[in-house]
Amino acid sequence: MDKITVGRMNNAPKIDRNIYGHFSEHLGHCIYEGIFVGAGSPIPNTNGIRTDVVEAMRKINLPILRWPGGCFADEYHWRDGIGPERRRMVNTHWGGVVEDNSFGTHEFMELCSQVGCAPYVNINVGSGTVREMAEWVEYMNSDGDSTTVQERWANGRKEPYNVRFWGIGNENWGCGGNMRPEYYSDVYRQFQTYCRTYGDNVPYRIACGSDGEDLEWTEVMMRTAAKYMDGLSLHYYTVTNTWEDKGSATDFDDTLYLQTLKKALRIDELITRHGAIMDRFDPERRIGMIVDEWGCWHNVEPGTNPGFLFQQNTMRDAMVAALSLNIFNRHADRVRMANIAQVVNVLQAIILTRGGKMILTPTYHVFDLYQGHMDAELLNCMVECAQLENGIEKLNVSASRKGDAVTVTIANFTDKTTVRIDGITAERVSGRILCGTPRAYNTFEQPNTVCPGSFEDVRLFGDHAEATLPSNSIVALSFVD
Ligand code: AHR
Repeated sequence: MDKITVGRMNNAPKIDRNIYGHFSEHLGHCIYEGIFVGAGSPIPNTNGIRTDVVEAMRKINLPILRWPGGCFADEYHWRDGIGPERRRMVNTHWGGVVEDNSFGTHEFMELCSQVGCAPYVNINVGSGTVREMAEWVEYMNSDGDSTTVQERWANGRKEPYNVRFWGIGNENWGCGGNMRPEYYSDVYRQFQTYCRTYGDNVPYRIACGSDGEDLEWTEVMMRTAAKYMDGLSLHYYTVTNTWEDKGSATDFDDTLYLQTLKKALRIDELITRHGAIMDRFDPERRIGMIVDEWGCWHNVEPGTNPGFLFQQNTMRDAMVAALSLNIFNRHADRVRMANIAQVVNVLQAIILTRGGKMILTPTYHVFDLYQGHMDAELLNCMVECAQLENGIEKLNVSASRKGDAVTVTIANFTDKTTVRIDGITAERVSGRILCGTPRAYNTFEQPNTVCPGSFEDVRLFGDHAEATLPSNSIVALSFVD
């Protein structure tokens, strides 16, 4: 029998709710159609923002949303997206389509307010100026009677927005300016100086971090700019095959399934390696590791615009979400935020739309199942289980405690198995499950092929519990003292 041992930790970190964060870029149909349809649309909306999508986001208590990119952030000029006259541009990164800027600062803040989530704004370093950034922060956060603030008033918003999270550039080693770490770190130091505090809103400044492989980037940033940052980002995408031919989102065999999981598990090692560098300069772990882009990146769906990054989402993607969130939980002492890419219609989306229709992907349901971990105290979790043919362990687990409830989330990558869970002395237990073959997914015609249900196959025995997990299942157990 497989075994999980759960126990309290010394100085246990809190699992920051922002680990369950999301990302929305001006890319394909993420913003336009996926979120924003305009007030005149026949699709039900409030102030132009889709009602169905907002409701789905609210249901999983989506805590934080990153915007406007991504690569798009480093060519976004915020003034193009405010006021009655919006400037049109070509979105050169993503599909070469016209961006009419009808979704801008006020619309993004309206979205966050409808969802009830925190905004995380990524500013333009690659092609922007310090002044442009400084004025955006002032526009959003200042209460002073300046010309910039008067502009905000004129655009209908009296109170400051008090945005706390600011990303200073994105992938500045690549699409954000092709900079060397030494150069970016100086630019970062300069930009962050003018990302000012207004009132009692002290900005949380996130520096651009590595693509995962580049340890030197982290080393240079920590050596030269640690004291100027609150967070350092890390991007990691799970690509099954190669960047040139990533592999199909839906058409794969069991060997490729396990290969995807193995690649996804690599984020554990990357967090550890980058974290070790951060520890040398920041042993107190004041600076958060911000995994603000992660998830599966497959080939686009045949027949769709290659620049729109639209892909289907199977139970395999759900497994990647489940194991990644378990890993982030287990690194909660350093990882303070993570944002899956991206929230609607792009890459590993939790929501897909087609015209007025909306479906929830298997990945969405993982976020739903894992809600018990948000703001909970991390528990130790030891797993003894068999290895699969490609060397990965067949179970991936994390556990946490909030008040009198312990949440244990288990991803079972293959066959049905019974697991003993030690360290549990609960009076009651309930569970939810998501399962299906790795290739199962939801379509607009059959939206509930993969959807969660209640999980009954768990028994309490005084000092432990036993659960029988069906093959290819993700289970969230809630034990109450
Ligand atoms: O999420 C898609 C793109 O991937 C982002 O724009 C960029 O930051 C990354 O390379």
